[in-house]
Amino acid sequence: MGPTSTVNTFISAALTLTCIALLYTLPATLAAQYNVVSLGARADGKTDSSKAFLSAWASACSSSEASTVYIPEGSFYVKSATFNGPCKCSSITFQIDGTIVAPSDYSVIGKSENWIIFSHVTGLNVYGGTLDGQGSTLWACKKSGKSCPDGATNLEFSNSKNILVSGLSSVNSQMFHIVVSGCQNVKLQGVKVTAPGTSPNTDGIHVSQSTGITILNSKIGTGDDCVSISPGSKDLWIENVACGPGHGISIGSLGWKSQEAGVQNVTVKTVTFTGTQNGVRIKSWARPSTGFARNILFQHAVMNNVQNPIIIDQHYCPNTGCPTQESGIKISDVTYQDIQGTSATKVAVKLDCSSKNPCTGIKLQDVKLTYGSQMAQASCAHAEGTASGLVQPSSCLI
Ligand SMILES: *[C@@H]1O[C@H](CO)[C@@H](O)[C@H](O)[C@H]1NC(C)=O
Repeated sequence: MGPTSTVNTFISAALTLTCIALLYTLPATLAAQYNVVSLGARADGKTDSSKAFLSAWASACSSSEASTVYIPEGSFYVKSATFNGPCKCSSITFQIDGTIVAPSDYSVIGKSENWIIFSHVTGLNVYGGTLDGQGSTLWACKKSGKSCPDGATNLEFSNSKNILVSGLSSVNSQMFHIVVSGCQNVKLQGVKVTAPGTSPNTDGIHVSQSTGITILNSKIGTGDDCVSISPGSKDLWIENVACGPGHGISIGSLGWKSQEAGVQNVTVKTVTFTGTQNGVRIKSWARPSTGFARNILFQHAVMNNVQNPIIIDQHYCPNTGCPTQESGIKISDVTYQDIQGTSATKVAVKLDCSSKNPCTGIKLQDVKLTYGSQMAQASCAHAEGTASGLVQPSSCLI
């Protein structure tokens, strides 16, 4: 057997055995590519291209080799799209060079939870692209006090695993921008989220019931939490994120339900908050619950004029009808290390824990926060732990 036939034998063996990672080991021509324009999509920003997107997905998902759905430059109006797995091959790429535009009339998808969703998919890479949710008419409705639908999330990954999202932009979502729910091993990198600071409920990246989620090198400016982490999530790594405007990086809200899974092993590292309502926050409702938050590390954060740079709020309630009990959420082993910068309010460190379930194992290390030319203050309730290094305002932990 000559070298060529050896290679061919190897390739055909690989094709029959597995399709994983063929994209990287074979010439691109061997991977199937489905261009949405060839399937009838129009780059005019107004013809509904949903069908073309779905037929590209159907082909990619049933392909027995690695495949790519290609969205070229231009603006594609997509009314809504559900990309369901499981797929035959766990190596699908979405290459988005253009912009995908949602209906601007919120009555079209405002009552659906999602605009674009991938569900039960294993092995997907999404590269580039802009998703424009056109949320402004829904936000105006919500602000007017009229009754309005909740709105749709721009992009959701549901019950999926081994997902990479790289270089995607999400703008003006009606509701949350990107939701990761019931997933394992999802990496979001170089993501950009943009919406006005006044847009309601437009969380940047929302993680729930998920394990092994990484968010890297991203820039999030929006009207609600830059990142929110809800019950049942663990092993999260968030690094090199710029947040603002927005409500900061939040674990919670926790403890709405009496039976609830906890949040554990979360690292938030090298983040900058600019003009945000909160910096690093843990929040829970004031009612009984089985949930918890533990093994949390907030490290190397810079606060620029942040209203609540460090906050644990176990009496969280942004609106009326607040529960009046004490939170059942047990918060433990939370470290704040190297947190520097400026607070927009006098109380820069607020640790308001549950009287029934005091916070334990809180560590403050090298924290320096100032309030204009004055000393900032720390306020603690039922917060136990230790301080080390330079801690200003000085620790009120017991
Ligand atoms: C915590 O999560 C990280 C990923 O962010 C993971 O590498 C590490 O193994 C986890 N630690 C434990 C103790 O599970």
